[in-house]
Amino acid sequence: MDRGFRLFPEQASTMAGRVDDLYFYLLGVSTFFTLLIAGLILYFAIKYRHGSRANRVDGKDRYKRWIEAVSIGVPLALELVMFIWGAKLYFSAVEVPAGAMEIHVVGKQWMWKFQHPSGRREINELHVPAGQPVRLTMISEDVIHSLFVPDFRCKQDVLPGRYVQSWFEATQPGEYHLFCAEYCGTDHSRMGGRVVVQTPSQYQAWLEGGTPGESPAQAGERLFTQLRCDGCHQGERSRGPKLANVYGSRVPLEGGENVLADENYLRESILRPAAKHVAGYPLIMPSFEGQISEQGIIDLLAYLKSLSAQQGGEQP
Ligand code: CUA
Repeated sequence: MDRGFRLFPEQASTMAGRVDDLYFYLLGVSTFFTLLIAGLILYFAIKYRHGSRANRVDGKDRYKRWIEAVSIGVPLALELVMFIWGAKLYFSAVEVPAGAMEIHVVGKQWMWKFQHPSGRREINELHVPAGQPVRLTMISEDVIHSLFVPDFRCKQDVLPGRYVQSWFEATQPGEYHLFCAEYCGTDHSRMGGRVVVQTPSQYQAWLEGGTPGESPAQAGERLFTQLRCDGCHQGERSRGPKLANVYGSRVPLEGGENVLADENYLRESILRPAAKHVAGYPLIMPSFEGQISEQGIIDLLAYLKSLSAQQGGEQP
């Protein structure tokens, strides 16, 4: 951080070097053709200037098939390389590696709230261990924000009403700038902070240094009872679907379809239970829209995930 003027951001994540390689390839190809075309424009402008001898028509056919083939083939090949390289890079940028540690992110005007798997929370500052993939499950409480860490080449829009995922693996301990990259109102430019990358042992020590609080799953379990979810979703003769192992499973709906019970599905089922009618159960669950904070929903989801063997590669 604050290293004075730099032409390029530091390469501080596993993706950074790979993103830069493609960037320099694009930059190289564009520069080469810009110079080539500008040079040819200049050359022909002089060669075929008014009154030059080159303008005299001698009746010969100067069409050459190979020139046309090369001018189609070479750009086509270079662009196919861009496409395939870019697609591969995109997939590695969006596919979260197995075993990633999950951090919950809530964006709001104008701050970033982070929560670690242990339950420790922080605002506008994110501590992470180096050499460990970190999955960010993000949502906004109000408008669209975008979490941007230039040194990691990591940027993802954060939307209200649904979860989005992003990930990075920091490579070197240090401090890195964190920005909001989507104009979101008066204090948009101040909505940022820093990512503090520590060695795994320093990170462990940091985690233990905080005031010990509930883990998200514990807070979720408390909320589950508080909101009386247990009345219908627990016990032998419950009126609602059982929730053990529901996360990550496929839920059959009325009408024969089925949906994957991921974070967005569970969120919708809490807020708008009628949106997807689970087969075999009456539509009697009330809507919890406006009654639970985003943090509360995240806690409930953490609790539901803890009831499921399939935890999507998270750390306990
Ligand atoms: Cu949040 Cu810009």
